[in-house]
Amino acid sequence: MHRRVRIAPFEIERFYERWEFSAELMLSSSDCESRPVADLLALEPDAGERLQSLHLGYTEVPGSPELRGAVASTYDLAGPDDVLTLAAAEEGIFLAYHALLDPGDHAIVEAPSYGSAVNLARSTGAEISLWQRRHEDGWAYDLDELERLLRPDTRLLYLNSPHNPTGSQLSAADQQRLVAMLAERGTVLLSDEVYRGLEHDEADRLPAACDIYERALSLNTVSKSYGLPGLRIGWLACRERSLLDRVRELKLYTTICSSAPSELLVALALRHSARLIGEARALVLGNLPPLAAFLARHEELFEWVPPAAGPIGFPRVRDDRDVRAWCERTAAEAGVLLLPGYVYDEPRHVRVGYGRAGLREALARLETHLAA
Ligand SMILES: Cc1ncc(COP(=O)(O)O)c(C=O)c1O
Repeated sequence: MHRRVRIAPFEIERFYERWEFSAELMLSSSDCESRPVADLLALEPDAGERLQSLHLGYTEVPGSPELRGAVASTYDLAGPDDVLTLAAAEEGIFLAYHALLDPGDHAIVEAPSYGSAVNLARSTGAEISLWQRRHEDGWAYDLDELERLLRPDTRLLYLNSPHNPTGSQLSAADQQRLVAMLAERGTVLLSDEVYRGLEHDEADRLPAACDIYERALSLNTVSKSYGLPGLRIGWLACRERSLLDRVRELKLYTTICSSAPSELLVALALRHSARLIGEARALVLGNLPPLAAFLARHEELFEWVPPAAGPIGFPRVRDDRDVRAWCERTAAEAGVLLLPGYVYDEPRHVRVGYGRAGLREALARLETHLAA
């Protein structure tokens, strides 16, 4: 008999819980530079007044109409009724898996992946196959391998493009082939699009999965490309109502509804998404050359597949040092925080983040530490 299973430890968040607020300089963050509330309130003349007079009652379960409208404006076909707001993307991963997978179902998760993508899928009791990509292959997407993994009754595929932690990006042609393979089997696509908008070349931006496939749930958040993780708002968009309804039913047991001030601020931010994402993208693109130059200066230690999107990359450490112990020492002694790859089951790698303003200072500090 199949049963639900205990959730494995979330190693990324455990590591950050230990180090994120004690290390001085962040060099591995997966989000872009955050902003003060005042910056958002300055976007519209009446925003401050609206926030001050907001009543702090419960909000609507799927999200306020204002917020769902603002979210829907980021899609071509998905409308406000196709949107379910969440307490950030993490809740979406939890809810989508637990609402849509039953013990004994088959699902596929790409690897390496953000830890909850694998652990929460497994915790449903479903049988999970990993669609593994590899540094040696330039993190290439092997769609023939995916076709071999897919079964006639595969229930769900989790895919994250642009990708955490490699910064790789699926091509439009591969996206189309992948969706056709899923549509043939009725497989649900849980498409984690939290880095959408941060493609280094804007021509690489993919259509949102929910706009091209009815059985796709597009997952997004203001945590990454918008640099607003403290608002804890994300959403799922899906045009097949029965799928979204099942997720909404389960949300009644987790958060019921979102935070009212956050809903207001996120709707405001989304109305100015081109500007906010544009600023984050400019920071990412400005930080990439000094980071690439640093890695090139230390090519005896690091090799990487240059990222195509997002604010993170995943170099491999060439020597045989204990990467986790080295990252912990670097945090403790130099105050620079890198993320060791063991948290992704890739112990020879290290995650670097380049979406923050302090990148040059962190690199200079790391350079001094390496020379010592
Ligand atoms: C790929 C991916 N999905 C989801 C999340 C969760 O995001 P949120 O902070 O909005 O819960 C993260 C956060 O690191 C992520 O990298």
